[in-house]
Amino acid sequence: MALSTIHVGCTNFGRGRLQAHLNCKGLEPVACVDINPDAARETLLSLDEDVSNDLPNRIYTTIAEAKEKHDAEVCLIYTSTTAHTKLIIESLNLGLHTLCVKPVAVNQNEFRQIISAVKENPHLMLVQSQNMRWNPAATQMRDWLREEDGIGEMLGGECRFWIRQNLHVGEDSRQPDAFLEGLYFHAGASHQLDQLVAAKGLPRHVTAYVHSRQDPVLAQTGVWGTAGGQALMEYANGAPFSYTGTRAAHVRMLEWSGYWMFHGEKGDLRRDTGHLQLFREGKCVEDIQLQDVYPGLREDDRIQLDTFADAIATGKNRDWLQGTTLDTWILMEACNESARTRERVDVQSFRAKLLA
Ligand SMILES: NC(=O)c1ccc[n+]([C@@H]2O[C@H](COP(=O)([O-])OP(=O)(O)OC[C@H]3O[C@@H](n4cnc5c(N)ncnc54)[C@H](O)[C@@H]3O)[C@@H](O)[C@H]2O)c1
Repeated sequence: MALSTIHVGCTNFGRGRLQAHLNCKGLEPVACVDINPDAARETLLSLDEDVSNDLPNRIYTTIAEAKEKHDAEVCLIYTSTTAHTKLIIESLNLGLHTLCVKPVAVNQNEFRQIISAVKENPHLMLVQSQNMRWNPAATQMRDWLREEDGIGEMLGGECRFWIRQNLHVGEDSRQPDAFLEGLYFHAGASHQLDQLVAAKGLPRHVTAYVHSRQDPVLAQTGVWGTAGGQALMEYANGAPFSYTGTRAAHVRMLEWSGYWMFHGEKGDLRRDTGHLQLFREGKCVEDIQLQDVYPGLREDDRIQLDTFADAIATGKNRDWLQGTTLDTWILMEACNESARTRERVDVQSFRAKLLA
């Protein structure tokens, strides 16, 4: 049976997520929350799906009000980034399993407040929504990194990401990424590096740098940690993994999922969006084209929501889903920490401090 769910943040990015929510089988939206209920209603009425369950008449301005009027077990949050932490804490304290679009927090202080709410509600799940790990190309890459028939033990790898992203959302309005420090790693790099964390867990150390390019046309005005960054990660077995990414490039060259190469004990892996190749003993043994990110990320989010629902209902993948998505936040913040201090960060100690 589908789990009753409150959907928070309904317009813009939330619109496609509402569609994914309606398309998934494991969750049933029973109420919506938005500080702009008129816009939320208009969005609901514009969806492909017949919103026959009276959802347009069940829009509230707070999660507490929605929960009071409708019995729910789950809450999905897709609001502006600056509202995430407060809403996650409200949701967990109302007894709801919670999934919030990345980044769950914009600084370490917010993340610690979230962890304290998680600890007070140990029976509930909290997942940072990361929608690039669910498509068939990302899933195949993860399998070849983890399973017997893949590259074997990872000996080294790299990821490159190269796009041009306008952070203006209107003439006088900018995404929080444009004025909050350090959101390149949390909102740009996390899309690629979450796939690494999902497959290989956290590295032991990271040394990172941020790019300081300014481009007012893109609303990238030199705020620290906005434009791009680089990182060298070292895994426990000594394997290095390097990352270079920018969203302030002069053209869009690579897609959000990134360009990847891995070198392993048994083979090598190459991925360029949906094109994947596996090499062994001097030969290409697999050369396949798979679906990369789906149009509008709706199917990616549908798969993520069904996996989340299944984890709540059966426990399957529960630790992996919660653990690795929150670890992605920790790794992105470790990159910021290294870039700020100009030091190599011990990721496990940094993680332990944030979770203490
Ligand atoms: N690929 C991705 O994962 C991806 C892509 C785009 C955006 N995002 C993220 O999605 C989030 C939403 O982005 P957006 O551009 O739609 O933001 P937005 O500012 O347009 O807000 C979305 C909705 O949230 C509502 N809202 C804001 N504060 C609220 C609150 N306190 N309570 C209830 N509703 C509230 C707004 O009224 C609006 O309807 C951001 O965190 C953004 O980083 C993720």
